[in-house]
Amino acid sequence: MEILIMGSKGLLGAELARLGGRDGHKIFAFDKDGLDITDEAAIEEFFKTHSPKVVINCAVVSPKACEENPGRAYQVNVEGVKNLLKHKSSALLIQFSSPAVFDGNLPLQNIQYSDSPEVGYKENDQVNAISVYGKTKAEMEKLLNGTDNLILRTSWVYSKTKPFGLADAPPFPLNEIGRPTYTEDIWKCINVLWLEKLTGLFHVCGPEVMSRHEQAMRLFGNVEPYSLPKDNIRPLSIGKIYPYLVKNSVSLTKWG
Ligand SMILES: NC(=O)c1ccc[n+]([C@@H]2O[C@H](COP(=O)([O-])OP(=O)(O)OC[C@H]3O[C@@H](n4cnc5c(N)ncnc54)[C@H](OP(=O)(O)O)[C@@H]3O)[C@@H](O)[C@H]2O)c1
Repeated sequence: MEILIMGSKGLLGAELARLGGRDGHKIFAFDKDGLDITDEAAIEEFFKTHSPKVVINCAVVSPKACEENPGRAYQVNVEGVKNLLKHKSSALLIQFSSPAVFDGNLPLQNIQYSDSPEVGYKENDQVNAISVYGKTKAEMEKLLNGTDNLILRTSWVYSKTKPFGLADAPPFPLNEIGRPTYTEDIWKCINVLWLEKLTGLFHVCGPEVMSRHEQAMRLFGNVEPYSLPKDNIRPLSIGKIYPYLVKNSVSLTKWG
């Protein structure tokens, strides 16, 4: 199958391009230097000459960069998705979203670890984004709601080569809590979703909830715990969906 992957130099895009190629798909992989999703004419041109069956959009302006440049954030995270939606014709669009669409006011109760799928927000919970990043994600979700495409909310994505994604945060907080999600599991999940011809909104996250401190302890052993300031707590992340893939049976949470 022909698959277009946007944002292919990023963590998830690079992994999905690799896994798709490994599984025999023809992959068109672009990042902003090759095909910018905000360049509508270039996107239109691509779809005039190619007809991929699936478009996986991993292009994004990161949370920190969104706060620094909200205009650019909106252009890429919302208008870019609009461009794909407008020109992709019958291709299935797979778009990623985030716990940042929620406000995080679920009770935290200082969970350091849980393997319960019930911990966190559910797909149908009220969206109420706080950050610029979260607001662009919520806006993008509105665009795709009711279309025959896929919105996958995921969290704390990691791969074999990038096991820990804590670039912008202080080290090892006890009160930033989420669900680490393995890139290869996201790929497996995508395969099940398109095999079953499912569309709509799904939470696609790992089975375990933990603090960043707990995650770092598992990866690195002995690390100094740290608490984020109270007004910067990032509570629970997304409830697991795979391996069940039963819509609306699971939970997701916030990010601040
Ligand atoms: N990583 C996580 O833990 C996580 C959690 C929840 C949801 N997600 C979602 O998963 C998706 C992929 O995230 P990721 O972690 O792989 O992001 P990432 O590592 O930041 O990769 C995003 C890629 O998109 C590129 N890009 C930016 N603007 C673009 C444009 N206009 N046209 C084409 N490409 C552009 C970026 O290039 P530059 O870096 O040069 O700007 C970067 O290579 C996103 O939708 C994200 O919201 C990720």
